[in-house]
Amino acid sequence: MPEQRKKRILTGDRPTGCLHLGHYVGSLKNRVDFQDDYDCFFIIADYQVLTDHINNTKGVGESIRNILLDYLSVGIDPKKSSIFIQSMIPEIAQLTMYFSMLVSVPRLQRNPTIKEEATAARIGAKEISYGFLGYPVSQAADILSVRADVVPVGEDQLPHLEQTREIAKSFNRTFDDVFKYPEALLGEYPRLPGIDRQKMSKSRGNAIFLSDSPEEVAKKVMKAYTDPQKIHLTDPGHIEGNVVFNYLDAFYDNKKEIDDLKGKYERGEIGDVAIKKILIDILNEFLSPIRERRRQYEDDPKLLEKILLEGNERTREEAQKTLELVHKAMNYHYGNIFSFR
Ligand code: TRP
Repeated sequence: MPEQRKKRILTGDRPTGCLHLGHYVGSLKNRVDFQDDYDCFFIIADYQVLTDHINNTKGVGESIRNILLDYLSVGIDPKKSSIFIQSMIPEIAQLTMYFSMLVSVPRLQRNPTIKEEATAARIGAKEISYGFLGYPVSQAADILSVRADVVPVGEDQLPHLEQTREIAKSFNRTFDDVFKYPEALLGEYPRLPGIDRQKMSKSRGNAIFLSDSPEEVAKKVMKAYTDPQKIHLTDPGHIEGNVVFNYLDAFYDNKKEIDDLKGKYERGEIGDVAIKKILIDILNEFLSPIRERRRQYEDDPKLLEKILLEGNERTREEAQKTLELVHKAMNYHYGNIFSFR
């Protein structure tokens, strides 16, 4: 009998800082939109901090708190969804052990996201640790621990999803049909640029954070990359590659007005400062209820702790069920080993 249940979502983030607008349009918005129809699990992936921050784990507790507040403030509802910490689910480590036997080292070395991250952290192919190279295996364990169907992520995570499916297939082929093959779900804007037009990232100093104050938002937008050729208001401007218009597209739902502004900008009827002021208002309006919810949760550390404990518990229940199936499929069920004859 196939299991009758709501479809499951699992996704999450590393606790290395706060979440930003790119996370919102790339994945968080989908999580909020889907939480009524799916059984949702959101992982705060603290093992992954060790890949490139192994000498810098002092802030990990604070970052876990920040990520949790980011989740709650955008509207993830802990009554509907489980938020949990990766290292508190021992079954994930167990699954990682088994899965690590089902993937070859050259296959891991081909993963483009690993290459990119190692380069960014200045870690060469000869120095990369076993755990860094292998973290997509641990990520497969995250996803498969609750046998998720859908994984809302940004574009950079697609190679990991592909590996997750390969590992699931390999397990099923080797042992028995335990796993489904989870699908990625990309947000509407999977690669929102940072204010300097490079990939928006926590570490590059080019991100607008969900927790930024109105003044910080204004300051960052004023610095944002526009069209370097447009010097005077009356110079015709370019929309393509213009970060301010990227953000308007992503955060302003009045499409007609956006088209109007684009026309004026292209004809040299409006300048950078005016367009940036419009964007500042729109972003601050978008962030205002998020800030408000953050303030409410911030004042209640007991509630924050309870949310994580309940999330951990609920996730462990599911992960334990998965491990039972896994052990059975692998013939690793030793409960009555001494009664064998
Ligand atoms: N690798 C993801 C990131 O860097 C975080 C993550 C950990 C994740 N486990 C996951 C994402 C499982 C999706 C599913 O953002």
